[in-house]
Amino acid sequence: MSEFIKVECDDAVLVVTLARAEKKNALTGSMYEALIAALATASDDDRIGALLIEGSGGVFSAGNDIGDFLAYALAPGASMGKAPVIRFIYALARFAKPLVAAVDGPAIGLGTTLCFHCDLVYASPRARFHMPFVDLGLVPEAGSSLLAPQRFGRALASEYLLLAEPFDAEAARSGGLINAVVDAADLHAHALAKAKALAAKPRQALQTARRLIRGDEAAVISRMDEEVKLFQAALRSPEAQAAFMAFMARPKS
Ligand code: COA
Repeated sequence: MSEFIKVECDDAVLVVTLARAEKKNALTGSMYEALIAALATASDDDRIGALLIEGSGGVFSAGNDIGDFLAYALAPGASMGKAPVIRFIYALARFAKPLVAAVDGPAIGLGTTLCFHCDLVYASPRARFHMPFVDLGLVPEAGSSLLAPQRFGRALASEYLLLAEPFDAEAARSGGLINAVVDAADLHAHALAKAKALAAKPRQALQTARRLIRGDEAAVISRMDEEVKLFQAALRSPEAQAAFMAFMARPKS
């Protein structure tokens, strides 16, 4: 599937690791396919009670692999609705078991927006969240245009999504995106222990409570539908093309 997605069971927790640190765990189509498969495995396997997602190499994820994504999205006849990233975010929004994330280092684009879909998120002091969609000539994705204002309030959501200001772990904690800031050395063990605690609860009651806490799934899906249409249109705009070209052509440090 993808060598860059590691999946293993630890007791009743499916641990999914983004393992492409040399590219800051930027997510390619084949990585999304592997993530979709991991979600399906976790859904179908009764032994699995929770899923933990984490990065590697001091990075959570730099979001979409820009080159890989553009190659897909700008190909003649490409359908955005069928793009692996889009199928992944819908699978994430519809996933019924508890989701836990451990965020160490940069979490950019989807690296941040996938956290909105998690039930518990822990981050190291060096975590840095960033949703630079507008700066890239794009619109928010993964339901973040709905979920960010719900989570942070409109004022902070506007700083993060319109000004596209990055924010650190402490701001993420006080804003309600993450549960706690945990030293990087302890992050995996801490998040895994919480995932195991969730997985040990009575399953039916936990999933029902989770569904109630998360609220109206249809509203999230409907907002994602709208975002996908607007994202697809924005991708071909001169603003987005210029931003992507600038990233590709940026001087190497
Ligand atoms: N897509 C494709 N490649 C990416 C990437 C992305 N989103 N993010 C990082 N990479 C690649 C870089 O091109 C570089 O590849 P190279 O070694 O072949 O040159 C490698 O990962 C390391 O990245 P680099 O930028 O040199 O590391 P850094 O420590 O200076 O900065 C980031 C790390 C994450 C802050 C920076 O890479 C970044 O801003 N990435 C883009 C994030 C983004 O805009 N994502 C899209 C959101 S929609």
